[in-house]
Amino acid sequence: MAAPYSHRTDDWWRSAVIYQVYPRSFADGDGDGTGDLAGVRARLPHLAELGVDALWFTPWYLSPLVDGGYDVADYRTIDPAFGTLAEAEKLIAEARGHGIRVIVDIVPNHVSDQHAWFRAALAAGPGSPERELFHFRPGRGENGELPPNNWPSQFSGRTWTRVGDGEWYLHLFAPEQPDLNWAHPAVRREHEDVLRFWFERGVAGVRIDSAALLAKDPALADFVEGVDPHPYIDQDELHDIYRSWRAIADAYRAVFVGEVWLPDSERFARYLRPDELHTAFNFTFLACPWDPDRLRRAIDDTLAEHAPVGAPATWVLCNHDVTRTVTRYGREDTGFDFATKTFGTPTDLALGTRRARAAALLTLALPGSVYVYQGEELGLPEAEIPLDRIQDPMYFRSGGTDPGRDGCRVPLPWTADAPHAGFGAGADPWLPQPEGWTHYAADRQRLDPSSMLALYREALRLRRSEPGFGDGPLHWLPAGDGVLAFTRAEGLICVVNLSPQPVELPGHRTLLLGSGPLGTDGRLPRDTAVWLRA
Ligand code: GLC
Repeated sequence: MAAPYSHRTDDWWRSAVIYQVYPRSFADGDGDGTGDLAGVRARLPHLAELGVDALWFTPWYLSPLVDGGYDVADYRTIDPAFGTLAEAEKLIAEARGHGIRVIVDIVPNHVSDQHAWFRAALAAGPGSPERELFHFRPGRGENGELPPNNWPSQFSGRTWTRVGDGEWYLHLFAPEQPDLNWAHPAVRREHEDVLRFWFERGVAGVRIDSAALLAKDPALADFVEGVDPHPYIDQDELHDIYRSWRAIADAYRAVFVGEVWLPDSERFARYLRPDELHTAFNFTFLACPWDPDRLRRAIDDTLAEHAPVGAPATWVLCNHDVTRTVTRYGREDTGFDFATKTFGTPTDLALGTRRARAAALLTLALPGSVYVYQGEELGLPEAEIPLDRIQDPMYFRSGGTDPGRDGCRVPLPWTADAPHAGFGAGADPWLPQPEGWTHYAADRQRLDPSSMLALYREALRLRRSEPGFGDGPLHWLPAGDGVLAFTRAEGLICVVNLSPQPVELPGHRTLLLGSGPLGTDGRLPRDTAVWLRA
């Protein structure tokens, strides 16, 4: 019954549009207020119609959901809130029937404190082989009352927690997410098995969470600002781990995308050598402000760092960790930075939406693959979550100064006239939907040719039918100040006007698509992008 995938070649991932599903907030099939696999299965036609090539599911495994599922208690079980393993298998097959591949999310740096290994480690006590799977250490200070080292956390707060018998364990994230000891062969073996488990079930790829954090300095030496190498970011041992993963993936023709946040582009590219990861997320572009020179530099740097290793670039505007694009682009500071997130930052949503539309055409015209985060195709803004409803540990661990990431995880609006905007027919959604959410409902946008959804559908349709898009060369065209203009193969041209004035379009035969209308004089208004054919 399986239909052919839309990109039939083995290197589909070099040009793919991959849609990120945050299952908890996508669609609630059983009416308990939490999104689930039944909800995704029912909405596969929406995704097929949108024209995506693959779905990346953030973790759907058994989890206490302390960190939205990035605290995995068992990799081989689907969390009952989401469904069952049999349903996941059905979903993978049904997606395939729509020509859509599935990518799962593996979180190798840590497990949940409810994982069998960690419970056994706690029970077995100091010096036991069970504890060697994690980083347990005695504390410093006279009575071991101080943490073993000074490592900064990836969330704010401490990286060590003390247990009843006096030992401390390491967690780069929340205390409910103990870090695994990647120097231990059983940890490597287990993850290789988990990869095979999911590849056997037909998944086409794996996203690797916190991919540059797994290996730790064996001495667990203190972190000293400005001194390299960092004791837990980008350790050289990682490359050996990913080489062995690559050999497994190759046997299944599956692919990896690594979550690798590294400022050094040469270090970043090492993960993309031909026998390591196929791709990694491009956070430089994601964090880049809406500024022509900065964007151009981000694009050039990205292409330059990927070229020597022959890996395609990826382009991402937002995901489940960062501020939604239309909100960010409507602010005074249009860049993204975890460190500067605060409550109540003013935004101009009309301006942000206009820019997000232009950014969508820019991104989809660049060489490589593109990630679209659920709700981006609906132009959803970041929501302000009432304080008593926030769930994200980033908020709690910051002492309430960081609003956390729930604002980009609000359950999707599907149907304007249904309860909970069609997210689910039963209980209230796990995060409240803000007032006016129905305005963004997919069913309304489907009927409106000027909607964000219509723009994404048309852009994805063209991108799929035009062989010049996706992987391949890009050439900049001469353009005025504040204007980004480049050609792709087959005479395709993309122009984005980030200057305050309308500009003339370069010579062309056809206007394929615009993020907004041209002026009556035929010029391209500010914050607008077009695709042309020369
Ligand atoms: C990644 C995930 C994020 C999670 C963290 C810890 O950065 O994207 O959501 O909190 O890893 O697993």
